Amino acid sequence: MSKRDILIKNASEVVTCSGFKAKIGKEMSDLKIIPNGSVVIEGGIIKAVGKSDKILEYFKDTSNYQVIDASSKSVLPGFVDSHTHFVFGGYRAEEFSWRLNGVSYMEIMQRGGGIINTVRATRAASRDELYNSGMKRLDSMLSLGVTTVEGKSGYGLDYETEIKQLEVMDELDRTHPIDVVKTFLGAHAVPVEYKGEEDKFIDYIIKEVLPGVAEKKLAEFCDIFCEKNVFSIEQSKRLLLKAKEMGFGLKIHADEIVTLGGAELAAELGAVSADHLLQASQRGIKEMARAGVVATLLPGTAFSLKEPYPKARYMIDKQLAVALATDMNPGSCFTESIPLIFALATIYMNMSVEEAVSALTINGAAALNREKTVGSIDIGKKGDIVILGFPSYKYIPYHLGVSCVEKVIKNGRIVFDKERNGEKIC
Ligand code: NIG
Ligand code: FE
Repeated sequence: MSKRDILIKNASEVVTCSGFKAKIGKEMSDLKIIPNGSVVIEGGIIKAVGKSDKILEYFKDTSNYQVIDASSKSVLPGFVDSHTHFVFGGYRAEEFSWRLNGVSYMEIMQRGGGIINTVRATRAASRDELYNSGMKRLDSMLSLGVTTVEGKSGYGLDYETEIKQLEVMDELDRTHPIDVVKTFLGAHAVPVEYKGEEDKFIDYIIKEVLPGVAEKKLAEFCDIFCEKNVFSIEQSKRLLLKAKEMGFGLKIHADEIVTLGGAELAAELGAVSADHLLQASQRGIKEMARAGVVATLLPGTAFSLKEPYPKARYMIDKQLAVALATDMNPGSCFTESIPLIFALATIYMNMSVEEAVSALTINGAAALNREKTVGSIDIGKKGDIVILGFPSYKYIPYHLGVSCVEKVIKNGRIVFDKERNGEKIC
């Protein structure tokens, strides 16, 4: 035991989200709350959780602990943002204005803007530039309660830049308190040098880039933008099968703008998650549920693109494990705002607050194959905790667009504290 161990006492509630696997259907509504609770973290790992009187009786001598009095405060697991593109060069504020004037996201992409615009800036950016801007974005996420984030490459579309992006994320993972889970998204768009030669580009990714990513152990997952006028079902299947063979977990940007069959493909390949799904078919949803694929919904993107929201209610009722994430990226959804995601999910997608909490904790963890180590307050899991400045998790969407997070604990250390001017402490 060392002085860095933590005892959180007298919380008005400990929202444990207890469990070691994705929650489906009605399970998503049961947050397994302990009223008047306490949590003990030792060596970065959750050692005990329960009613305050019981915990304080057992842990009588608290002299070796940093004791946090959480009276009138709600305690939750750290949030897991399981889909982002947070390492990139440049911005696309101009394109946002065009979209407000009625030009669609796909139209901008077909005119050579969109993702390709960011590819240009990311190829030109130095490692230091990408690292420094990535660090700032992680700081912002941390202040909003995120303790695990997924980050995708996909703004290089060539060997050198894809590796550069992943190496920057790797360094950020080592130097920032937030755990960064890396995904290779080399097939995010067709680069100018392969324009009109999608199949050739997929060959290049399979033969030249994927093996390098695997050899350097730079990514755990492989993803693809499976969409009309980007990559077809056949091209997606070809790349993802190869990636699976090489040991990558699979993710798919599926059925975002057009119903293409990405949800069905995710089920067929046993993907860990299929993401977006604004236009997923009923059959695709059913097959995903049967195959245990997590549906990662990104309401910020639907909001920003003025597209219809994904059918979360239907999916949950069909026993699909639903996760929520920001999709933080410079184009379709430039936000790291967890409060915004809570608001959109509960107000526009008919998710209950409880379902939204499950979707941003244990189900987000499951979308990253991390449901055994994070996403809930259970003995043996990482000491990743959020303390709100309010007595109930119900304040999260109620306090519209404003963060309720007061303290963030990562691996058993306080890494953010609003009471200390909101600075990152590490
Ligand atoms: O998830 N849809 C494809 N990819 C990203 C957007 C990336 C961008 O526009 O830069 C997404 O929305
Ligand atoms: Fe995305």
